[in-house]
Amino acid sequence: MKRFSGNKQERLSYNKALFGYLHLITDAEICIKKNRDMKIVITGSIGNIGKPLTQELVREGHLVTVISSKADRQGAIEALGAKAAIGSMQDIDFLSAAFKGADIVYLMEAWESIGSLSDNTIDFNAGMRQIGYNYKEAIERSGLKRIVHLSSFGAHAPKGFGSLVVHHDVEHILRQLPDEVSIKFMRPASFYTNLFMSIHHIKERSAFVSSYGGDKKEPWVSPLDIAATIAEEMKLPFNGKEIRYIASEEISPNEIAKTIGEAIGKPDLKWLIISDEQLLNGMLGAGYNTEICKGLAEMYASHRGGIVFEDYYRHKPVLGKVKFKDFAKDFAKVFDQQ
Ligand SMILES: NC(=O)c1ccc[n+]([C@@H]2O[C@H](COP(=O)([O-])OP(=O)(O)OC[C@H]3O[C@@H](n4cnc5c(N)ncnc54)[C@H](OP(=O)(O)O)[C@@H]3O)[C@@H](O)[C@H]2O)c1
Repeated sequence: MKRFSGNKQERLSYNKALFGYLHLITDAEICIKKNRDMKIVITGSIGNIGKPLTQELVREGHLVTVISSKADRQGAIEALGAKAAIGSMQDIDFLSAAFKGADIVYLMEAWESIGSLSDNTIDFNAGMRQIGYNYKEAIERSGLKRIVHLSSFGAHAPKGFGSLVVHHDVEHILRQLPDEVSIKFMRPASFYTNLFMSIHHIKERSAFVSSYGGDKKEPWVSPLDIAATIAEEMKLPFNGKEIRYIASEEISPNEIAKTIGEAIGKPDLKWLIISDEQLLNGMLGAGYNTEICKGLAEMYASHRGGIVFEDYYRHKPVLGKVKFKDFAKDFAKVFDQQ
C-alpha cells in the first residue's frame, strides 16, 4: 500500500486521481470537523481569559456555556454567542449539573469568589483549595473526562513562592482524580494585565515599584495567548495528566519600564526596587488581607534571581503571538483614561 507523507498537495492529487472531484478532506480538516460542536463549559466568566476563550470557541462552532456568579452578566455572555449558567464555584450541586454532558470543561479558581480582599478574617488559601475540592467532586459526580485547568507558573513547588502555593495545591487535588479523567494543567507566566495595577505608582512616582527588578529577563504572557493556547489544547488529544507552560515574551523589568515609558510619553519611566518589608507594609497599609499581602510579598521576592521560573525554563514553551510592544499600546490607552 502506498504511504503518504502528509503533504497536502500529495493528498490532493491522490484523492483527485481516485475520486475525481469528490470533496477533498485532509487529516487536519477531519480532526477540526470531528471536534466541532463540542459542548464546552467555561468557568471564570468573561474575565481576562474567559472572554477571549469564549469568543474563540464560539467562532470555532462549539456550544459554549459560561459560568458567572452574576445574573446581570447573562446578556453580555449571550452577546458573545454562548449560554450563561449563573451560579457559584462554591456550589458543588450547581457545578455538577453544569458539567453534566460536557465534552470539556475549562476550570479556574477566582480569588475574588472567596470574599473581599480586604477582609482579614478570611483564609484565602483554604478558600482556593476548597474550590479545587468542589471541582473534584463535581467532576466525579458529573462523569466529566476532559479538563483544561488554569494553574500558574510556580505551581511545581509546594512552598517558597508565596500565593502561588494554592496552584500547586489545587493541581495536587485534581491529580487525585482517576486515570480516565484527563487534565491539562496550564501554567501561564505573569499576565501583562497585572501592570495596570501600577498605573497609580506611575502617576505618583513616575515608576513601577516592586521588591525585585533589574535586567534579568523573565516570562510574561498576554491573556489572549493563554486563551488561544487553551482553545488549541481543547482540539488536541488528551492523555492523562499533562502540564504546559504559556508565555508571550521574556522581558526584564527595566525593559518593561522603557517600553511602557515610551508608549505613554514618559521616556524616563523607571522600575524602582524597594525592600520586601516596604512592599509588604505598603500593601498592608492599603488595607488588604494580611495573608494575601504576605503571600504576594513572598511571591515577588521569589522573582529575584528567577528561582520561581526554574521549572518554566526546564519546560520552556514556544512563545505566543502577542508581544509586549502590542500590550504597551493598550496600556497607554488605559493610562490616558485614568
Ligand atoms: N495574574 C497573573 O499573573 C496570574 C498568573 C498565573 C495564574 N493566575 C491565576 O489566574 C486566575 C485569574 O484568571 P483571570 O484573570 O482570567 O480571572 P478574572 O479575569 O479575574 O475572572 C474571574 C471571574 O470569575 C468570576 N467569579 C467571581 N466569583 C465567582 C464565583 N463565586 N463563582 C463563579 N465565578 C465567579 C467573575 O465573573 P462574574 O462576576 O461574572 O462571576 C470574574 O470575572 C487566578 O486563579 C490567578 O491566580 C494569574
